[in-house]
Amino acid sequence: KRKLGILISGRGSNMMALAGAARADGSPYEVALVASDKPDAPGLAWAQDQGIATFALSPKGMAKADYEARIDAALRDAGVEAIALAGYMRLLTNAFVARWRSRIVNIHPSLLPKYKGLDTHARAIEAGDTHAGCSVHVVTEELDGGEVLGQAQVAILPGDTADSLADRVLTEEHKLYPRIVAEWLSK
Ligand code: GAR
Repeated sequence: KRKLGILISGRGSNMMALAGAARADGSPYEVALVASDKPDAPGLAWAQDQGIATFALSPKGMAKADYEARIDAALRDAGVEAIALAGYMRLLTNAFVARWRSRIVNIHPSLLPKYKGLDTHARAIEAGDTHAGCSVHVVTEELDGGEVLGQAQVAILPGDTADSLADRVLTEEHKLYPRIVAEWLSK
């Protein structure tokens, strides 16, 4: 099985979906490490309870290069071969991306190339879009800009708020991400 590392910053529901799918028969990957830039991320405690190896390091007061070198070392020590970002709300440096070239994917809550960055659901509603969704893409130096590996759509309903739309998109994220990661790591 391929060893997957997952980076999170908070709730970690996409990480939980990936970890759940990894336990199913025939999964091409296993979760070798869950790492967080927020030592108090709820997802980290969940992963620990599941017996998954975890690593937490706050970048506060550290040079970014030093912080990332520590994350990189933790991933390598765990034997990680590929990385899934799951609500990891920190930009990776170009050096880190280059070191893991074509081996990092991210899930982003919009139908890329629309709405890169933050506040995706509010922006989709504001624009009067009929659909929103989520995308799994390869991570490159360009924010939310790498090759899209898969997407899922939901209709934007009358009366939707950013929160209600986010809830429905999240349900799709939890199905899309494990499926695309399994396909990606089966190649
Ligand atoms: C998810 O909706 C994910 O798509 C989004 O943050 C949420 C994390 O939830 N990611 C981004 O906005 C990346 N820029 P989770 O921690 O429960 O997986």
